[in-house]
Formats: sequence, structure tokens, C-alpha cells
Amino acid sequence: MGGVMCGIVGYVGKRSASPILFQGLTNLEYRGYDSAGIALGGESEIRFYKYKGTVKNLENVVSGRDLHGTIGIGHTRWATHGEPSDLNAHPHLSQDGTIALVHNGIIENARTISSMLEEEGYVFISETDTEVLAHLIEFVGKKADLSFSEAVREALVQVEGTFAVAVISSRNPDTMVVARRGSPLVVGIRDSGSEFFVASDALAFAEHTRFVAYLKENEIAVLRSGDDFRVSAIKGGKKRHPEIIEIEEDLAVIGKEGFDHFMEKEIFEQPRTVRDSMRGRLDPKTGSVRLGGLDDYMGRLAEADRIVFVACGTSYYAAVLGEYLIERYAGIPVEVEYASEFRYRHPLIRKSDFVIAVSQSGETADTLAAIRLAKESGATVLGICNVVGSSIARATDAGVYTHAGPEIGVASTKAFTAQVTVLALLALALAEKRHTLSCKERKRLARELYLVPDKIETTLETRMECESIAEQYAEAENAFYLGRGVCYPVAMEGALKLKEISYVHAEGYPAGEMKHGPIALVEDGVPVVVLAPNAAETHEKVISNIREMKARRGSIVAIVTEGDAETASLANHTVSIPEADEFVLALIAVIPLQLIAYYSATIRGCDVDRPRNLAKSVTVE
Ligand code: F6R
Repeated sequence: MGGVMCGIVGYVGKRSASPILFQGLTNLEYRGYDSAGIALGGESEIRFYKYKGTVKNLENVVSGRDLHGTIGIGHTRWATHGEPSDLNAHPHLSQDGTIALVHNGIIENARTISSMLEEEGYVFISETDTEVLAHLIEFVGKKADLSFSEAVREALVQVEGTFAVAVISSRNPDTMVVARRGSPLVVGIRDSGSEFFVASDALAFAEHTRFVAYLKENEIAVLRSGDDFRVSAIKGGKKRHPEIIEIEEDLAVIGKEGFDHFMEKEIFEQPRTVRDSMRGRLDPKTGSVRLGGLDDYMGRLAEADRIVFVACGTSYYAAVLGEYLIERYAGIPVEVEYASEFRYRHPLIRKSDFVIAVSQSGETADTLAAIRLAKESGATVLGICNVVGSSIARATDAGVYTHAGPEIGVASTKAFTAQVTVLALLALALAEKRHTLSCKERKRLARELYLVPDKIETTLETRMECESIAEQYAEAENAFYLGRGVCYPVAMEGALKLKEISYVHAEGYPAGEMKHGPIALVEDGVPVVVLAPNAAETHEKVISNIREMKARRGSIVAIVTEGDAETASLANHTVSIPEADEFVLALIAVIPLQLIAYYSATIRGCDVDRPRNLAKSVTVE
């Protein structure tokens, strides 16, 4: 099978394509990094280079080889089926070598097509579904004597499944054909079309242009330097004038900015990103919130019988916090579901429901499927996404962007706090509409939210304590994370962070649940991270939970409020965080857990930005 969670890039223009492709692939490596390749055209023969390994490896291997050509495609792969290998790496070529393509997605009827092609004498040298498409384009083109772009179109009509593809042909050395169905594809335009860039994410070519056009589902485009940019429906060929937009985010500013890892940079960016998430939305003086993206829906949302959040992973934990905040402060019943469960468990969705998808990438396949189901059931579907123009952003009726900027580290940090910030804003906005809080109380909470960036800044100063805790438990193979109320989703998120990047088995639990079973696992020296800030309604109960863990000789790491010597005295290690109201507590309490996970991973020698078995956007179901 072909990689489904991959990065594709392409360039058509006047400059040498290869440096642009290498840079683009490097920017996209977060989408996959087990093999990489490029194909260069522009003359009678296509030259291609593809290897197992990173983009850097590819660059090293090909340096000194013939890399000229002003048209080219590239790919960075994350294998889901079959070993990463040179042969399975993209680009894939047609049998006669005249067509090369890169693909992101899965061709579901690959087996049927390959049997048919084998009967016609085609031979397959890789295990990928993508090679099937390369051969099919050649086959249909020759059989019906079609032009290059018509052959691509015809082949795609016959294909079932998902794809974003970029195709070049040595017979049409100035033309690239791109198309999408179910996988993202964006075209960048520079100098009124003298240069075109293609990628799965605009981040790939951010240094070259910010003018982009997103291909819609089931569309194909023909790109030729200096020629019109033409888009049409794959089936039927109906033409559409592409809408060119300027991307808001400053994608050009990317890099580790002096930090060792993207994840570290992203953790330390949070005072700014949380502020960006609130910018222009919160008025701390009046306590009023305006979420422009929801203007047309706020009235109805405030009257909703029920809100259902659908999300996966870290975004799910953010949504659980959304549930706590909206129910408590705005008084609307909320449910939260894992998107992967929601879509298959035949949920009862009513037309009056508001379903809100929460997703950093906006490309998560399960969340997209849950959205589709909710729409089919007639519910209103909203989105909370970080990636502007992402599939989820486009699939929902309306939504709010979290504005955290591109998150490159695979383990989500700043995107999580941005989601929680937006959810807190939403809770306040709904409370305002529904008059569930006194004006004074609403202003107080707004002020609390406004102060969060400064408090995160202060909390980041605990980095040394967090590093030292990570050092002391570097050999631990198991850990517990406990919390109650708003600290429970934070505990879950803290445990997930540790699992993901340091490969330590960690369980996040509601502190009160321990005695119902998991406490059996607590023995001498097992680290138990307890969120015990004194703002929490359940503070006293958490103290009892700490005593229960201590009695089993668990080693307690307590996250406490500054100055709380009493709770600190019960713990083996403490991290102090600033005093904060429960309304915003999660945003602050999560910081030490991110830091502990980050330092644990680095101390254990793990590749923090590229944890094993994980990739940034999960476009597989
Ligand atoms: C964990 C993490 C994942 C994602 C999940 C959903 O650090 O990043 O658990 O939260 O895969 O992804 P999005 O938010 O892009 O829908």
C-alpha cells in the first residue's frame, strides 16, 4: 500500500526545481519521514531519486547527481502498510517511464486494477497502490489516445479511495497535473502564474509565496508556467475559476529559533500563542467575548438542547475541558465523544444538536467522518481548528480558528492550550448570551483568562524543577497522573504526553477512581503525579488521595499552588504553579506536565519531535 499520511510537493516554473523540492519536503517532514524521493522533468526523460530514510539522507545521496530541471515533484512518506523501502518510496513511474507521480492517500480498488493491468502485460515492482495509478494513467492514455491531462483524469475516475496526487510526464515536459479527493492539496502561485508550487500543506512553500488556492474535493488542475491556472471537476470536467487567497499566518517564520526541538519551542511559545488565541475576541474590561466565525450561529448555539464534542487524542482532552466549562458556566448540556467511537456506535443525533469538532490539524480522518455523520443527521456542525483552510475547517458550517501557528512537534502542546483557550472563550460567550453568570462574575473570569499568558510565563520558570524530576524518574517504566474536576483531563493529557514521546507507560486517572482498581499497581517508588492546586473544589479530597498513594509507597510528584507548604510537605517532589481560578486552571497546570514529558524524553534519548509510530496528522482511520 502507499503511504497515507505523507507529504507531497511540486514545482513548475523557471527556476531549478530540486532545491525548492528539498526545502518543501523538509518543511513537510512532520507528515512522514521514513522515505523520501523526487522526480525531475522538463526534458525528454524523467530523472528520479528515492530512498528509504529522511529528506536529509536523500539530499546527501543525490548531491553531485544530475538535478537540473524546472519542473519536479517530491514526496516524504510515512508507511502504514509494508516496510519503508527504496522501491516503495515515491515517486512511482509508469511502465514506460514517461509518467511519474507522488500520492498521498489510499487507492482502495488497487488490487482489481492491478489484476486487469497484469493481464495487459504490466509488471509491478513495488508493493504500493500508487504504482497502480502510474500504470493506469499510461494504460488509459495509450488505449484511448488521450492527452496527458485527460489520461490522468480518466484514470482517477476509475480509482476508488482517497488521493492527493501530482503527476508529470516526459511527453509534456512543461505540464504538471494535480488532483485531490479526501487528502489535502494546495497550489501556491507566484508572479501571476509564472511559478506554481504544490503541496499537502502551504507550509511547504511558505518562503516562496503566500498566495494559495485550495483544490476542492474531486478536482483536478493543470499547471503550466505562464499559462492560466485551470481547475475542473475530475468527473464531468466542469470548470471552476480558482479562488486565490492570501494566507494569514506567517508561515514563513519557521524554525527552531534556538531551541533544541520544535516541541520545546512550542511549549515556550505558549504565553504568546494563548494571547493570540484571545486576541480581538476578549474584552477584559467588559467581560464580553466575540467569536467572529460564530457570529451567525451564537444565538442558536446558546439555545441548543445539547452540544456534542467530537475529537481524538489531545484534542479530545481539550474537549472534555470544554464540557466542564460550558456545563458549569453556561449551563448547556454537553457530551464529548472520541470521533472514532462516535462514527460507528450509531449515536442518537438530533437536528437540534450542535456537534463541535475539535482538531489541531483539521485533517484527522476519524473526526472528519464524525462530522459527515453529524451532517447527515441534520445537526449543525462547527469546528475548532488550528490549520486555516484545513479539511475540517472547510467541512463544517462555521467555526473558530485557534491561531496557535503551525505546530511541528508531533506531540501537541501549544495547539492544546489554544483549543482550551477558545473553549473557555466559548463558555464565556455562551454565559453572556444566556445570562448564567452575574456581570461581575463574568468580568472576573474574563480577567482571569486575560492573565493566563503571564501565569504561563511564570509557570515556565519551573523548567529546572521539571527537568530534575524527569532525571530522578528516568528509569521508571510506569507512572500515574491523577486529578479531579478540571485537573482530570489535564492528568489524562499529561499521561498521554509522557507515553507519546518518552515511551513510558503512563495512566491518567480521576484521582477518586484509584481505589476502585488501579491502586493495586501502586508499589514502592512508582511515580504518581498528582494535580493538587488549591483552587480546585476538591482540594481536600485530592489530599486524601495523595495519602492513599503514599500509604502504598508511591513516589508523589505534586503540582501545587505557590505557597501551599502543607500539600507540598506530603509529596516527594513538588512543582509550584501560580494561583489561578478553576476556570483557567487547566491552562496553567498542564505546563509542568508538558515539561516533565519533554525532559523525560530527551533524558531517555528519544526523538522528541518524531516519536516512533506517530505522525502529525492522522489521515488514516
Ligand atoms: C497528541 C496528539 C494527538 C492528536 C490527535 C488528534 O499529542 O497530538 O493525540 O491530538 O491525533 O489530532 P487533531 O487535533 O489534529 O485532530
